[in-house]
Amino acid sequence: MKGIILAGGTGSRLDPLTRVTNKHLLPVYDKPMIYYPIQTLVEAGVTEIMIVSGKDHAGDFLTLLRSGSDWGAQFSYGVQEGAGGIAEALGLCQDFADNDKIIVMLGDNILEDSIKAAVKDFEKQAKGAKIFLKTVNNPQSFGIAQVAGQSITSIEEKPKQPKTNLAVIGVYMYDNQVWQVIKKLKPSGRGELEITDVNNFYVKQGTMTFEKLEGWWGDGGESFDSLLEAANLVSKMAKG
Ligand code: DAU
Repeated sequence: MKGIILAGGTGSRLDPLTRVTNKHLLPVYDKPMIYYPIQTLVEAGVTEIMIVSGKDHAGDFLTLLRSGSDWGAQFSYGVQEGAGGIAEALGLCQDFADNDKIIVMLGDNILEDSIKAAVKDFEKQAKGAKIFLKTVNNPQSFGIAQVAGQSITSIEEKPKQPKTNLAVIGVYMYDNQVWQVIKKLKPSGRGELEITDVNNFYVKQGTMTFEKLEGWWGDGGESFDSLLEAANLVSKMAKG
């Protein structure tokens, strides 16, 4: 399976920290934010990874991460010219994926848990997609899933009146149908190609599976507080 880390977007919620650099290069305790998704993928056995960044600081990613050899991995790089959404950034990776299954991770997501077993399960899944859910206190800030037994019945992006508090975290596994799905997407109200619309294709097809995350999960780019919380938790974990 090939890995993709999406690190485009404007980072406007963290202004002025993001005026002269990219959000994913900001420190989270003792490492740049993007190190954490890289570690999660490599630990799960995914070592061919494409990193998509915005145009302004693309060179800094290359300077920092280089070939990937520090992780025993091979990195490829892509540039998203605008900030047309997570699904737009993903659409740039079709040639890299070369019809393999993919695992996509948002560059600002930090996970305590290993996802190795879920990656293995998805390798065996005949068709479709797999996502991870995590109970949160602020469901208005995330994609929110409704679940019936072992199935997801719908996902809503940042609902004003959430029906559950089960957030869809920023780690997604897809089969090669994803490229056709992205080509048919229309921009949402906020002018972006939404990953939630991609996920709802698989929900409707009945091929979306999910896992619940047990450990801590942080979306380091959501707010100053989430960035601070991520740093505090990473420091706690580092000290055992
Ligand atoms: O963190 C999980 C959440 O991430 C999910 O629950 C939501 O369903 C999903 O839409 C997303 O929400 P956010 O509002 O947090 O997405 P954000 O705009 O912060 O983008 C998250 C990452 O995606 C960001 O770190 C870089 C990448 N991205 C984003 C955009 C808009 C790109 O690479 N290109 C883009 O154009």
